[in-house]
Amino acid sequence: MESDIFSKFPILKTNRLDLIEIQQFHFPDLFKLFGDKDVTQYYNIKTLTEENEAQKILDWFQARFKDKLGIRWGIALKGKNEIIGTIGFNNFTKGHRANLGYDLQKDYWNQGLITESLTAVIKYGFEKLEINRIEAEVMPGNINSEKVLVKLGFKNEGLLRDWMLWDEKHYDMNMYSLLRNSKE
Ligand SMILES: CC(C)(COP(=O)(O)OP(=O)(O)OC[C@H]1O[C@@H](n2cnc3c(N)ncnc32)[C@H](O)[C@@H]1OP(=O)(O)O)[C@@H](O)C(=O)NCCC(=O)NCCS
Repeated sequence: MESDIFSKFPILKTNRLDLIEIQQFHFPDLFKLFGDKDVTQYYNIKTLTEENEAQKILDWFQARFKDKLGIRWGIALKGKNEIIGTIGFNNFTKGHRANLGYDLQKDYWNQGLITESLTAVIKYGFEKLEINRIEAEVMPGNINSEKVLVKLGFKNEGLLRDWMLWDEKHYDMNMYSLLRNSKE
């Protein structure tokens, strides 16, 4: 069963979007995305300044799937090839837990596009990956991200002190989670 999940990249479709495999030709799109300090502000990624820095991120996204550890989709407007954001499970254990990540180019914020993408990704996680608990770790201050999660039913479980180690510094993170069978 595990091997089935990774035998072919699972394209997902929503009303306005296609969630597709991130490929080498998306390299400039990733540079545009992660070259914006408003996108990277609450992320463990330094704002990119050189286009070739996007390669490391692209390699990491692709490796998660190749190594059967996670799935990162590129967010494309329906029928378009370029991606305007990314979304996915950084890690997951089938039947157990998954950890979310997502980002969108600023020009597309506040149109409900991440809500739409997350809805599809969460459904895929609960139904196809049989995940029981989907988690998102959000840096304090990232109100945009918290709002989206709360709207989708995630609960804030509290502040994890010095949870992340990025660039030799520790960061507190808020832990949000959504259970497949909500116990409330
Ligand atoms: C966090 C982030 C992904 C949110 O993306 P987004 O696309 O703006 O989120 P959405 O549009 O889905 O939801 C935001 C607002 O749009 C509104 N909205 C929903 N559907 C809409 C629609 N069809 N048309 C217009 N607005 C809509 C929502 O109600 C929401 O507003 P409100 O909660 O203030 O009422 C984006 O800000 C981002 O990329 N941030 C940087 C990266 C990052 O921090 N990622 C998260 C790490 S934890």
